[in-house]
Amino acid sequence: MLDLSGKTALVTGIANNRSIAWGIAQQLHQAGAKLAITYLPDDRDRTLSKVKDLVAPLSPDLLLPCDVQNDAQIDEMYGSIAKSWEKLDILIHCLAFAKKEELSGNFTDISRDGFQLALDVSAFSLISLCKGARPLMTAGGSVITLTYIGGARVVPNYNIMGIAKAALEMNVRYLAQDLGSQNIRVNGISAGPIRTLASAAIGDIHKMLHHVQEVSPLKRLVSQVEVGNVAAFLASDLSSAITGQILYADCGYEIMGA
Ligand SMILES: NC(=O)c1ccc[n+]([C@@H]2O[C@H](COP(=O)([O-])OP(=O)(O)OC[C@H]3O[C@@H](n4cnc5c(N)ncnc54)[C@H](O)[C@@H]3O)[C@@H](O)[C@H]2O)c1
Repeated sequence: MLDLSGKTALVTGIANNRSIAWGIAQQLHQAGAKLAITYLPDDRDRTLSKVKDLVAPLSPDLLLPCDVQNDAQIDEMYGSIAKSWEKLDILIHCLAFAKKEELSGNFTDISRDGFQLALDVSAFSLISLCKGARPLMTAGGSVITLTYIGGARVVPNYNIMGIAKAALEMNVRYLAQDLGSQNIRVNGISAGPIRTLASAAIGDIHKMLHHVQEVSPLKRLVSQVEVGNVAAFLASDLSSAITGQILYADCGYEIMGA
């Protein structure tokens, strides 16, 4: 029985009701975890009001701003968590960003600043969030990030994000080794393509969605809630011997040769 009661979970990456992080937050809540939810702040607090309404049914203990490019904000966020909770058990890293123009066209046209931006937000952020979580995970912990097959194989148009996901997946392994002695496990879920705000920026994403639906053994797309169930498993003691792994939640697409 999957039981996360008594566990605390920090969930990043909810933008709207299509976000994978929203599917994860719902499943962690259903399994009994207490939630701290972060949102990417904007000038007019539009995201705050949207996310606040969305997550209200989950009664999160904390709703905090966190732009992963802002170290002071990361520190403040962990400061608020340390004040509210005795310990942190689960960290969900479910965010990424790249310039839309670098998610299509020639790979050789990727710019230096676009490369740095995508790698900073989408890969380095896992290291900085783990660094802040480490002293709070006093009873061990589970860190889960979201990746995509385009970080392991060439997927048309995924371009710069493929490089960011490759770095992210290697981060998972190095972090698993570094944090393992504290019984903090670090794993990635490689989700199949899902219609979200982020995936809408990828050139010809509808073709990829259609292709996966046709080719994957289960002949369908994965849902946000199904990814949430995998995250709940990885967050729970049922997965206590699993660390440093990338688990595919993609209706089997990864095994196919075409
Ligand atoms: N949608 C897919 O097909 C798919 C497949 C596999 C993996 N993923 C990954 O899942 C994760 C979530 O993406 P999604 O598809 O749910 O889209 P989404 O747009 O709902 O979520 C992306 C999140 O990243 C956040 N973000 C962007 N820049 C940030 C910053 N500087 N600081 C803090 N947060 C920031 C956004 O606010 C948003 O909440 C991403 O890592 C994405 O690469 C998505």
